[in-house]
Amino acid sequence: MPYLHISMVLLLSLHIPAANSATTDAILAGQALSISDKLVSKNGRYALGFFKVGNSSSQNTSNWYLGIWFNRVPKSTQAWAANRNDPFKSPTSLELKISHDGNLVVLNQSTNSVIWSTQAKMTRNNTIAMLLDSGNFILRNASNSSHTLWQSFDHPTDTFLPGMKLGWDNFTGLNRQKNSISPATGVYCEELDPSGVNQIVLSQRSSTAQYWSSGVWSGQHFASVPVVPDAARNAFKRSLVPNAREKYYTYIILDETVTVYFNLDVSGQIKVFIWREGSQDWLLAYSQPRAQCDVYAVCGPFAMCNDDALPYCTCTKGFSVRSPEDWEPDDRAGGCIRNTPLDCITNGSSTRSTDKCLSVPCVSLAQSVRRIEDAQSIGVCTQVCLDNCSCTAYSFTNGTCSTWHGELLNIRQIQCSSAANSNGETLYLRLAAKDTQGLEKNKRVFIIAVATGTSVAALGLFAFAMLIMIWRNKRKSSGQISNTAQDCNGIIAFRYNALELGTKNFSEKLGEGGFASVFKGFLNNSTAIAVKKLDHHAHHTEKQFRAEVSSIGIIQHINLVKLIGFCCEGARRLLVYEYMPNGSLDIHLFQSHATVLKWSTRYQIALGVAGGLAYLHEKCRDCIIHCDIKPENILLSDSFVPKIADFGMAKFLGRKFSRAITTMRGTIGYLAPEWITGVDITPKVDVYAYGMVLLEIVSGKRNSCVSCSCGSNHDVYYPVHVAREIIGGDVRSLLDSRLCGEVNLKEAEIACKVACWCIQDDEFDRSTMGEVVQILEGLLEINIPPTPRLLQTIAGSSNYSTCC
Ligand SMILES: *[C@@H]1O[C@H](CO)[C@@H](O)[C@H](O)[C@H]1NC(C)=O
Ligand SMILES: *[C@@H]1O[C@H](CO)[C@@H](O)[C@H](O)[C@H]1NC(C)=O
Ligand SMILES: *[C@@H]1O[C@H](CO)[C@@H](O)[C@H](O)[C@H]1NC(C)=O
Ligand SMILES: *[C@@H]1O[C@H](CO)[C@@H](O)[C@H](O)[C@H]1NC(C)=O
Ligand SMILES: *[C@@H]1O[C@H](CO)[C@@H](O)[C@H](O)[C@H]1NC(C)=O
Ligand SMILES: *[C@@H]1O[C@H](CO)[C@@H](O)[C@H](O)[C@H]1NC(C)=O
Ligand SMILES: *[C@@H]1O[C@H](CO)[C@@H](O)[C@H](O)[C@H]1NC(C)=O
Ligand SMILES: *[C@@H]1O[C@H](CO)[C@@H](O)[C@H](O)[C@H]1NC(C)=O
Ligand SMILES: *[C@@H]1O[C@H](CO)[C@@H](O)[C@H](O)[C@H]1NC(C)=O
Ligand SMILES: *[C@@H]1O[C@H](CO)[C@@H](O)[C@H](O)[C@H]1NC(C)=O
Repeated sequence: MPYLHISMVLLLSLHIPAANSATTDAILAGQALSISDKLVSKNGRYALGFFKVGNSSSQNTSNWYLGIWFNRVPKSTQAWAANRNDPFKSPTSLELKISHDGNLVVLNQSTNSVIWSTQAKMTRNNTIAMLLDSGNFILRNASNSSHTLWQSFDHPTDTFLPGMKLGWDNFTGLNRQKNSISPATGVYCEELDPSGVNQIVLSQRSSTAQYWSSGVWSGQHFASVPVVPDAARNAFKRSLVPNAREKYYTYIILDETVTVYFNLDVSGQIKVFIWREGSQDWLLAYSQPRAQCDVYAVCGPFAMCNDDALPYCTCTKGFSVRSPEDWEPDDRAGGCIRNTPLDCITNGSSTRSTDKCLSVPCVSLAQSVRRIEDAQSIGVCTQVCLDNCSCTAYSFTNGTCSTWHGELLNIRQIQCSSAANSNGETLYLRLAAKDTQGLEKNKRVFIIAVATGTSVAALGLFAFAMLIMIWRNKRKSSGQISNTAQDCNGIIAFRYNALELGTKNFSEKLGEGGFASVFKGFLNNSTAIAVKKLDHHAHHTEKQFRAEVSSIGIIQHINLVKLIGFCCEGARRLLVYEYMPNGSLDIHLFQSHATVLKWSTRYQIALGVAGGLAYLHEKCRDCIIHCDIKPENILLSDSFVPKIADFGMAKFLGRKFSRAITTMRGTIGYLAPEWITGVDITPKVDVYAYGMVLLEIVSGKRNSCVSCSCGSNHDVYYPVHVAREIIGGDVRSLLDSRLCGEVNLKEAEIACKVACWCIQDDEFDRSTMGEVVQILEGLLEINIPPTPRLLQTIAGSSNYSTCC
């Protein structure tokens, strides 16, 4: 799952003219808008003017556009461009004005030539142009305000503003569609179903294939889009209007304070963002289709799409990226080209070819056009393909030989466990003989490398536990006093002595671990707070620390513990968080005197934690990897809403320590194998730890305790036991016996499966947190997971008693 790419446009630099003291919302005859001016709608929401998209350091390669942007959003976000396909190459002498014929035109003053025009037909020239509160830029009759001659809403680009119409006008023959890629017209298109069905469809313009549809309009909503995103509930009103003259879909926003950015992304997905004042960022509220690989031909020809990888497109063996400059950042539709042309000659009825076929296992080819051939065996099928120079691939599945001709689209890598090779197909890709040489050899090397890596990892886990012990015993802390205090981006900067007072001289310790101790305190003697004192040797400079505080402080989510303030005096570094009256999850799960958590509460906790992590991984501006997910870091509010604590600690603890610290900080039992193998750490380490925690939520016991009564088999490491029981057995035997059977078995089964997918050895096999949320919510189906081999090996060779 790619991390948030709001839009290509946002990543590139965008020049927006400085605010003009005397802004207006209209251009009258005789007035002109120059390069440094802008129009602002009366309500202040939208602005119109000239802007630049492109590389800011090389003026001559940047493109200029006339367009509309969100005026109140500090993060430059365009809503419309007039000349998306014909950018102005230079800003010199540009001017927007009403011409003698009444049309609105962009002029090159130095040549006095028209380079863009509204081209509306009219008999007289008394017109004015206005930017309306809705973001619609109109040209209308100056003496009749209801007589519109031209409007930007009739020429939508990639943004669907409230009040805009998506659909047809049979009177003007206009079909208002939205196209992806801003500013230039892209390959994807969102429109009302041209076949007349009352639904919205996404399609690729060069093909008739619709890769997503909203489902039929019911009068209130579309069948496949039943839920309005939480953050936007009560904010939208949607309608599909068929009348005598036109048929269109539109929506309005009821809550004036909400700013919505509804965009058709370059990568072919619809994305709805909501502006969050708190974080000063767009929050992704909704996107469709959910899986990037569901977008038609999203990776282009001869590329493989994998939703679990980043980047999600890769060229298949024997192919290279067609145009590297377009492959960045999100537009992969150019696909891949052969490294070596095929060698195939047809002369009459005979064909000569030296080409070879390379097997590509575990793919799904559902959307591709295939031809079914008559062939008894795979050998015959191979020959059928090689005998036709246009054949580029074939498969032989279940006794059926299929061939593909020409460019191969929509190849998708899927989960395909070696145990049950059920849903994946093997595709045989035709390559020039030269390109297949060496591939087999590489494969062997790869297998050896993996095998070695795996056994090293198994050893590593134990050496590692020792290291943690030694290192923990070595640590101590101290501090110094100084006195400066400033404010830092809305987060309260506390003085040290204020915190000393509030915590009664740090007398009530809530916990200790990693790099800090936590104390309870009160703000103004009423609001309870948790004050975290960082150990002195793990420091950033004051400047760095403040920067991290402000970047972490803006991250807010119902399932994340809120950072209220900090203190940074001399060598002292303290963080002030909201206080969670119900303490941490481990107390409720593992302590014998605690009240047993009901199943429904456990499931809500599992869902909430997944939501919080998904937010950290996928929805905030910079992806944050927690690195230390464990029950001790999941706090519970008074109503048992789970809140993840300690996120962003890697940032607070300083860059040079980063690797060592993050490695050490994690707790064995929740550590993914890649911590030890030394490959780069991705959000999948949190997924692994989450899976482990989820198992503990289900069982009510530490995974690492050998003495747990895991159903019939007492000697099996619990996670491995779960994996085995899911494949062949009974979920009931896995559950916390203290629940006395009061469990929703369907949910329990889902939870166990999710957990097993999360703790797979290979990070690419693990789900993403976004998927976990959807699965737990019942929105996505889940397959039977394979048993994690590494854990099985470890559990089988040791009694795993290090952590009890
Ligand atoms: C901008 O252009 C310069 C020189 O052409 C290049 O070195 C730089 O990498 C470009 N930056 C981006 C963000 O494309
Ligand atoms: C851009 O302009 C500068 C000077 O104006 C010139 O030296 C440079 O070669 C130009 N680059 C391109 C890519 O046209
Ligand atoms: C306007 O014309 C001048 C002279 O031909 C040229 O240098 C300039 O780049 C043009 N401006 C635009 C925006 O095309
Ligand atoms: C409108 O057209 C008339 C006649 O062609 C012309 O004299 C007048 O200047 C035009 N008005 C504007 C504002 O261009
Ligand atoms: C504007 O409206 C007036 C009266 O309704 C009409 O005479 C005139 O032709 C209209 N102007 C344009 C540009 O259509
Ligand atoms: C104003 O324009 C509207 C729509 O074009 C038209 O129906 C109406 O008759 C016009 N009013 C006048 C006074 O011309
Ligand atoms: C608009 O035109 C299409 C075909 O051109 C037709 O199928 C549809 O019924 C028309 N809609 C209305 C509202 O007249
Ligand atoms: C095609 O076949 C004919 C007769 O079978 C032969 O004369 C000719 O040389 C062949 N052409 C090529 C390009 O192989
Ligand atoms: C090769 O396959 C294409 C597409 O199926 C077909 O049109 C063509 O006739 C075949 N050519 C030969 C020589 O069989
Ligand atoms: C394979 O063939 C069998 C019998 O023809 C059929 O029942 C089964 O559904 C087929 N499986 C697939 C994946 O097509």
